[in-house]
Amino acid sequence: MLFKRVKPLDQIIATAEKKSLTRQLGAFQLTMLGIGAIIGTGIFVLTAEAGQKAGPGMMISFVIAAVVCALAALAYAELASMVPVAGSAYTYTYGVLGESLAWVVGWALVLEYTIAASTVCVGWSNHINELLAHAGFGLPNFLRTGPIDGGSFNLLAFLIGLAVTVLLVLGTSKSAKVNTVLVLIKVAALTAFIVIAVPAAKDPNFHPFTPNGWGSPMGGLGVLGAAASIFFAYVGFDAISTAAEETVNPNRNIPIGLIGALGMCTVYYLLASYGAVGSVGSQPMLDAHGVALAPGTAEMAAACQNSQALVCSKEALVHVLRLLNHDQVANLLGLAAVVALPSVILTMTYGQTRIFFTMARDGLLPASLAKIHPRFHTPHVITIITGVFVSIFGALYPVGRLADITNSGTLFAFMMVAIGVMVLRVTQPERKRSFRTPLVWVVCPLAVIGCLLLFANLPVETLKIFFGWAVIGLVIYYVYGYRKSHLANGTEPD
Ligand code: ALA
Repeated sequence: MLFKRVKPLDQIIATAEKKSLTRQLGAFQLTMLGIGAIIGTGIFVLTAEAGQKAGPGMMISFVIAAVVCALAALAYAELASMVPVAGSAYTYTYGVLGESLAWVVGWALVLEYTIAASTVCVGWSNHINELLAHAGFGLPNFLRTGPIDGGSFNLLAFLIGLAVTVLLVLGTSKSAKVNTVLVLIKVAALTAFIVIAVPAAKDPNFHPFTPNGWGSPMGGLGVLGAAASIFFAYVGFDAISTAAEETVNPNRNIPIGLIGALGMCTVYYLLASYGAVGSVGSQPMLDAHGVALAPGTAEMAAACQNSQALVCSKEALVHVLRLLNHDQVANLLGLAAVVALPSVILTMTYGQTRIFFTMARDGLLPASLAKIHPRFHTPHVITIITGVFVSIFGALYPVGRLADITNSGTLFAFMMVAIGVMVLRVTQPERKRSFRTPLVWVVCPLAVIGCLLLFANLPVETLKIFFGWAVIGLVIYYVYGYRKSHLANGTEPD
């Protein structure tokens, strides 16, 4: 069954041209779209979780995750420049490895985009709840977090998901402009953090450097466990490729956007994590036997009561600034997160809708989902459905768990892209590539190995959810998409 129904790449491009979205995004807007998707809850919130898993060694975790993403970005750029259509890893897999694997990738991308959007809804709500509480308007506790986190319903995470959905239904162009302004605010906030925290770094805060060691497969702790989690901080650069059909001159602009956005964010993250670790320290909370507690558990919550440790904070960077007695800047940073994190939710939800749009256009999901709104020219049906799910997950689940689930789907998709590049180099060497992955036979195998390494270091519960999700997806495929596929039935829409 595998490797059957491979959709010819020329046909993919022709289909996209028939039922296409308007091309209006340039290199600058794409890079902004990328940074808008990348900088977010990962650095602002999950830095604390990475500290709990790896101690100061989380700086190495940031580097490992960046290297894996850079390798994957080089592969993404080649495929995105060859097949500049919406759908990203899903579309590429369809054109290289066939329909059933493409479906599995598309299904895994739901974990990446929808759950990432939910994760950031929670990160946003952490910041605004804290600011509201400071101002004396705090919500009751049961409305601040979901049931697993000790509350009932994360109201503000839910509402921000819905607000972003409305923005997306109203139109891409408008949302992209809003996105650019928000990105600038976010970059300014990170710059302020770095300027304050980096000079405050002190040598003793780096010792012991790796209190939990390197980690073991499925254990979730150690430098590799933290890398598998903090990988979330880089997730999103591939959202650029989902906008390929709306990009002017995609062959040039997509690689610029992908690599430019990832490079800039990596530099910022390394400086910010150095500043956070060096200025206030990031030693993990330990249990009675001296073993690091797993983040996101009741034991960890109990150990963190009344603790000022970085690893206990829900808004890591704001917390560091408060510990450094920069209260005003901390408030501004919190405000910047509140204003800017919605750009991440927006980009992730946008990416998800474009992938669903493409899958529906291929007949693997009902065509009614791909309907374009007559006035706003956006796929409003699928946008609304996606937005409702994003909001519900954000309202009910803790941030760290959502991030790990996101990472499982993303790592799988990245791996398939790297495999796809290698397969196409062999099967279609003559095809025009405006961007060629340098040292492809080194870069792509390393990308696959890197993704597998991080995937294996996710917590075991996350891996169970990933495989359970994949099985559900395969059942749906064989019940619906397998029979309705336009490729199989020769029923491409005109
Ligand atoms: N990388 C994005 C974030 O950290 C998804 O929020």
